[in-house]
Amino acid sequence: MSIITNYLGLSLNSPLIVSSSGLTSSVEKIRKLEESGAGAVVLKSLFEEQINYEAGSMIESGLSPEAHDYITRYSKENALESYLKLIEEAKSKVKIPIIASINCMSDSEWVSFARDIENAGADALELNVFFIASEAGQSSEKYEDLYCNILLKVKSATKMPVAVKIGYHFTSLVNMVHKLYLRGANAVVLFNRFYEPDIDIEKMEMSTGGVFSSPADIRQSLRWVGIISDKVSKMDIAASTGIHDGKAAVKQILAGAKAVQVCSVLYEKGNEQLQVMNNEIAKWMDRKGFKTIEEFRGKLNYRNISNPSAYERSQFMKYFSTYQ
Ligand SMILES: Cc1cc2nc3c(=O)[nH]c(=O)nc-3n(C[C@H](O)[C@H](O)[C@H](O)COP(=O)(O)O)c2cc1C
Repeated sequence: MSIITNYLGLSLNSPLIVSSSGLTSSVEKIRKLEESGAGAVVLKSLFEEQINYEAGSMIESGLSPEAHDYITRYSKENALESYLKLIEEAKSKVKIPIIASINCMSDSEWVSFARDIENAGADALELNVFFIASEAGQSSEKYEDLYCNILLKVKSATKMPVAVKIGYHFTSLVNMVHKLYLRGANAVVLFNRFYEPDIDIEKMEMSTGGVFSSPADIRQSLRWVGIISDKVSKMDIAASTGIHDGKAAVKQILAGAKAVQVCSVLYEKGNEQLQVMNNEIAKWMDRKGFKTIEEFRGKLNYRNISNPSAYERSQFMKYFSTYQ
């Protein structure tokens, strides 16, 4: 029996990919993740916003526009250089695929960065893109164009496989993923889990929601993996958010995911959880008589179940009518 899977054209020894986060910020950490059974890692994102912020904090008022530009460029190159070094070292020390990640707010810088990342040896690139649609005068299509333009520019600059990691805040998510497919995305990651604002009513100030997901958070992505793996069937899907054990990974693969990404559970339980999850997946496959991941991948997606409306049901109605 084998738990090998193919994602982004890469062969992974396990469907478990360690998500972009501090877990993958050094070669030593990545080496230990490989030892513990990770199929691949996504490096911590190189954040455009953070680079711009750091450049801004170095810029004193009254500087000439030329000095301003110089400092901004210097900060970007510096941040990029350490990132490229991480890719190069990781590639020389581990065998599992290394997927780089960039967080883009614009389509201007990433073209040359993507090229450098490819030259440094990354196996693939994940675009971590998210725009809060907070402008009353901006249509949803305009926001969607931002994702598409970033993808198109990056794809034109590199031959690396590219995944787009998105949230679920789209009115027509299937159409959005299809648009990404038509523009050359090789995979989507469903979904990122973003910073969530909260309010402290005693201090009467903004605070932060929990950083880590809980196992119940899997459902949002389970629905869309099940639907999209049928409707945009040529697109690879990595499920993400709320995958905390082998059972959750099996559910996502049954729904059609080629791989699953894990993050919170490793922060909470340590790298050992990777081995635990790999064993859970293998034991389940053994019990059900499956020899490969492909034998059961998508068996319960929108196309393959007798009642696809199970994925579309949204109102409580009859489903919860026993609760008076
Ligand atoms: C501490 C921390 C740092 C993260 N940093 C990044 C990042 O740099 N880039 C990114 O795309 N996602 C980042 N994420 C999101 C994770 O990659 C992942 O998508 C999210 O936590 C949902 O998966 P989970 O439920 O397994 O935690 C981060 C998450 C955490 C908890």
